[in-house]
This record gives sequence, structure tokens and C-alpha cells, in this order.
Amino acid sequence: MRILNIVTSPRRERSASIAIIDSFLFEYQKKIKGLAVDTLDVWTESLPEFGAEAIGAKYKGVSGEAMTPSERATWEKIRELASRFKKADRIVLGIPMWNFSFPYKLKQLIDLACQRNMLFTFDGKEYGPALNIDKAFVAYVRGQSEEAGFQTVPPPGFEHVTKYIEFWLHFIGVSSITAMTVEHTWDGRALDMIDEGKKQAAELARQF
Ligand SMILES: Cc1cc2nc3c(=O)[nH]c(=O)nc-3n(C[C@H](O)[C@H](O)[C@H](O)COP(=O)(O)O)c2cc1C
Repeated sequence: MRILNIVTSPRRERSASIAIIDSFLFEYQKKIKGLAVDTLDVWTESLPEFGAEAIGAKYKGVSGEAMTPSERATWEKIRELASRFKKADRIVLGIPMWNFSFPYKLKQLIDLACQRNMLFTFDGKEYGPALNIDKAFVAYVRGQSEEAGFQTVPPPGFEHVTKYIEFWLHFIGVSSITAMTVEHTWDGRALDMIDEGKKQAAELARQF
């Protein structure tokens, strides 16, 4: 079995989301002998900017028009990223909250890899998935929690983030999603919360 591990925190050994996902994978490797883990770290992957050139490459790629050498390089990277999703039997994803959303590099990966006929289909009327992945595991992590009040807006929680991520995973063809949340990762409770999160992730791996 091959699992795509999408890393979205740049904090390496200081990262709570990486520690939690690593705990999940450590346990899952005991369960699935020969598990192959493809780690796609959005911070070290040298993702091309998704600007005019990438958009030009995308349209030329779809229409079959000739590309410039740098458009071709961008398009090849897009195809390579999408192929890593296509090769995966399962996906795991650690997501830190950044400014009440997720790190922008994850959106860059989505904008690059999520192309028609690569991760999804569209026949002019209806969207469909291009992948067939039975399960994904997502760990959401944030420094604070609902306990921090807001003067002018209602507390946003994680719901809008989880809704988008879960929509996107289902949209590209993931059937079922197991998710967990760890809060208070940057205050006095951080060590205990992360430790508890790692245990919960290991337990979820046994059931995954
Ligand atoms: C740029 C940035 C923005 C952040 N924004 C929030 C936020 O909106 N709400 C929150 O609770 N924590 C926020 N945090 C704290 C992180 O969610 C917290 O440190 C988390 O552990 C980061 O995940 P990681 O440890 O895997 O890197 C932010 C951290 C950074 C670096």
C-alpha cells in the first residue's frame, strides 16, 4: 500500500502537526507491512508559482498548444504532483491553523495539482472525481481554542477549514475521511496536548 503524506507545516521537529502525523504513520506501518510513504512537503517541494505562466501552461496543456520551455517545465511539475496523488492508495495530511485558515503553501499545492482530468473530471455539466482513494486521515492543529474571545466577530472555530478540506478531498475522489483536532499547541498546555494528540493519532491508525 502507498500512502501520500502531505506535510504543510514548515516547522520540522518543532511542528505539532508533523509529530501527530508521524505518530499515526509509525503505528500504521506496524499494521500495514511494506507500507510505502511518499512525503510531499509543500515547503521543500519547490512548488512553481501559480501565476500567469502556470495558467498559460494549463490552458496550452488542455488545448495541446506548443509551450515555451519554462511553461513546459511548470506543466511537467504539475503532472508530477498530480501523479503522486494518482499513485496513492491513501492520503494523510497535517494542517496547522494559520490566520484562521491553513498555510498558503497547501493552497498553492491544490491550485497546481488539482487540474481537470488529473484530480477531477468535468464534462461541461458535471464534476466528477479522477481518483479512487478509500480513506484519508487529517490532523488539524491550532495554537489556541474557542477559549480565546473575539470582540467583534463570532469565534470561527475550525469548521470553515474542515469543510473546505473535506469538500476538496471528497471532490477529487476520497471516499471516507477520519479527522482529529489538537488545540493549545503554543501555550502552557502544549506538551500535554501534543502528547495526547499523538496517542489519539496512533489509536486512529490502528482503526484506519
Ligand atoms: C503564521 C501563523 C499563523 C497562526 N494563526 C493562528 C490562528 O489563527 N489561530 C490559532 O489558534 N493559532 C494560530 N497559529 C498557531 C499555530 O496554529 C500553532 O503554532 C500550530 O502548532 C502550528 O502547527 P505546527 O506546530 O504543525 O507548525 C499561527 C501560527 C503561525 C505560524
